[in-house]
Amino acid sequence: MFNLYINPKNTKGHINPELQGHFSEHLGRCIYEGLYVGENSEIPNVNGMRKDVVEALKEMQIPVLRWPGGCFADEYHWRDGVGPKETRKKMINTHWGGVVEDNSFGTNEFMELTEQLGCKRYINGNVGSGTVQEMSEWVEYMTFKGVSPMADMRKANGHEEPWQVDYFGVGNENWGCGGNMTPDFYGNMYRRYQTYVRNYDGAHPIYKIACGANADDYDWTDGVCAAAFRKAEWQHGFMDGLSLHYYTLPFDWGKKGSATDFDEKTWYQTLSKTLFMEELINRHAAILDKYDKDHKVGLIVDEWGTWYDVEPGTNPGFLYQQNTVRDALVAGINLNIFNKHCDRVRMANIAQLVNVLQSVILTEGPKMVKTPTYHVFNMYKHHQDAELLDSFIETEKIGVDEKRMVPNLTESVSLGKDGKVHITITNLSATNGYEVRAVLADTPVKAVCGEIVTGEIHAHNTFDAPETVKTESFTDMKTSGNEICINIPAASVLHIAAEI
Ligand code: AHR
Repeated sequence: MFNLYINPKNTKGHINPELQGHFSEHLGRCIYEGLYVGENSEIPNVNGMRKDVVEALKEMQIPVLRWPGGCFADEYHWRDGVGPKETRKKMINTHWGGVVEDNSFGTNEFMELTEQLGCKRYINGNVGSGTVQEMSEWVEYMTFKGVSPMADMRKANGHEEPWQVDYFGVGNENWGCGGNMTPDFYGNMYRRYQTYVRNYDGAHPIYKIACGANADDYDWTDGVCAAAFRKAEWQHGFMDGLSLHYYTLPFDWGKKGSATDFDEKTWYQTLSKTLFMEELINRHAAILDKYDKDHKVGLIVDEWGTWYDVEPGTNPGFLYQQNTVRDALVAGINLNIFNKHCDRVRMANIAQLVNVLQSVILTEGPKMVKTPTYHVFNMYKHHQDAELLDSFIETEKIGVDEKRMVPNLTESVSLGKDGKVHITITNLSATNGYEVRAVLADTPVKAVCGEIVTGEIHAHNTFDAPETVKTESFTDMKTSGNEICINIPAASVLHIAAEI
């Protein structure tokens, strides 16, 4: 038996809803087909946005959406994507499959989509191949209320009122696809570009995000911070957030493997590599601590998730992959880690929303399936805007390869807005169930309700069998006083809501 100790009286921090954020790039069939089908499509849509997809994402309470990239962001020129669609420029999407991008989904369409979703907006600007003027004018186009060339252009394009932009990324992966810069050079570019990301809307200042490291490139974090934090007495800080990208690749040396065909060793290897996220957060945060002593700057994990070989027969540049119970575990483990680090991690965006990498939704023509990852996000939504509770779980090491052992269980616990204690536990074992005894210090449990995502480790949803993996009600637990005895099955992600 494994004890899970929870102290409902000891809150550790606020869980920003944005920890469950998403990312949508002009890549493969994410935007086109996945989210946007155009007003004239036979697929049911509202102003071009797929009704089925929007409905599913609203149910999951998508809190924030990042757009337009990714690597695409540093090649994107926003003016190409506004105004009458017939006259919008066509371009080649050089990063992703060399396909024609007709720019029919641009700024106004993104705003429409996020309005339908009821979520916050995270726009990623172009530093790699764009000018300061271009970035500055984009912000003016979107957010300036008064009379100005860009505000007038927005009005002429049919939107009188400015939009609210919540987050703005100043470049993406500028150490690589975003311009191959050095940390010091980018740090200075960041200072310059962000100066012109003006806060026209005093009530809702834009949260500015600097491009952070790729995985364990700690020199990047240190170098960017050294340049970007240097300021005179009279200057304000330049940075609200610093990003971090880390993908789970099941193998070392960049080998990825199939999304659905893997052995037990690869299962544990994948989960072990996912758990590395915790070390990354700790070490990047420790560097930030040197520069940001007041803990004001957020760590923004704006790209994470599994990255496998593409599905056989699909365009290698489209990054289309299936999603199994293994992905459900990867999602649950990461979301638990983000919760536990909510003092520093202010936003995280899984890559990517629809049809690309670890998606929550897959589409094929008019058909749509919710992936196991979707169901995990849908369960974890109870943590949104909740208070993290002090908790600790006993674990043992499991696995089939000594070098890749993992703890059998991970957890996070919060006090929800509904006054309930929300417990999420992942069982990383491919084969074993465990008994977990949750003890809520000095707090009797009045009632419990459970839901679970579980299945054979390769189980996944297809367009013919869309509900092989879904959220099921979970009842294999007993309460007595301040304890809940839970029998958690192998390979599962569990959510328990306890009334106290
Ligand atoms: O998500 C796919 C790509 O991964 C993004 O465009 C880029 O930022 C990262 O390398």
